[in-house]
Amino acid sequence: MSKHDDHFFNVFSVVIGILVAITIGIFVLARITGYEHQGQYAGKVGLSAEQVAERIAPVGQVAVAGQDNSALAIQPDDPSKAVAAQPLPADGAATYTAVCSACHGAGIAGAPKAGDKAAWAPRLAQGKATLYKHAIEGYQGGKGVMPARGGRTDLTDDLVKQAVDHLTAM
Ligand code: HEC
Repeated sequence: MSKHDDHFFNVFSVVIGILVAITIGIFVLARITGYEHQGQYAGKVGLSAEQVAERIAPVGQVAVAGQDNSALAIQPDDPSKAVAAQPLPADGAATYTAVCSACHGAGIAGAPKAGDKAAWAPRLAQGKATLYKHAIEGYQGGKGVMPARGGRTDLTDDLVKQAVDHLTAM
């Protein structure tokens, strides 16, 4: 072996040695840092048994007569999520604008148009009491469907009557 080869061999050995030392260092470091977390997350990869059970639970359950079905009781909705009810319109005119005008404003779907005297005359001839009744209970006279209370079921009878007065006076 020449002196040159000798030198190369020494340097090469040192480099290999350093690389091996670094490899071992990284391995040890990884074990140390991983030690705490390995136990914590081992077995948690994927879904836990409860999560699986929850996801594959049947959508419906059958209540059996004579057995304790209390667990099946429908839970009341979270009140904080409930949508606040729309406030009632203040008077007949406001009710007309908020509810009735949707159909009666333009005479949509067979609804007698507000202000159309010819359309209203035969209806008014029935008497206000009938118009009130039809507006409150709903009415199908062959022209279309007048939904009860115009579809706003929370309207009071009085508001509907005032709306009828307002509508027929237009
Ligand atoms: C979804 C559309 C719609 C809304 C909203 C609506 N109406 Fe009507 N209304 C109709 C239709 C259609 C008729 C005609 C029904 C027929 O004669 O066949 C009608 C008819 C009427 C009549 C005449 C009933 C009769 O005996 O001839 C009155 C009064 C009336 N509506 C009042 C109201 C009032 C008051 C409101 C609001 C609170 C209202 N409507 C909201 C569609 C509507």
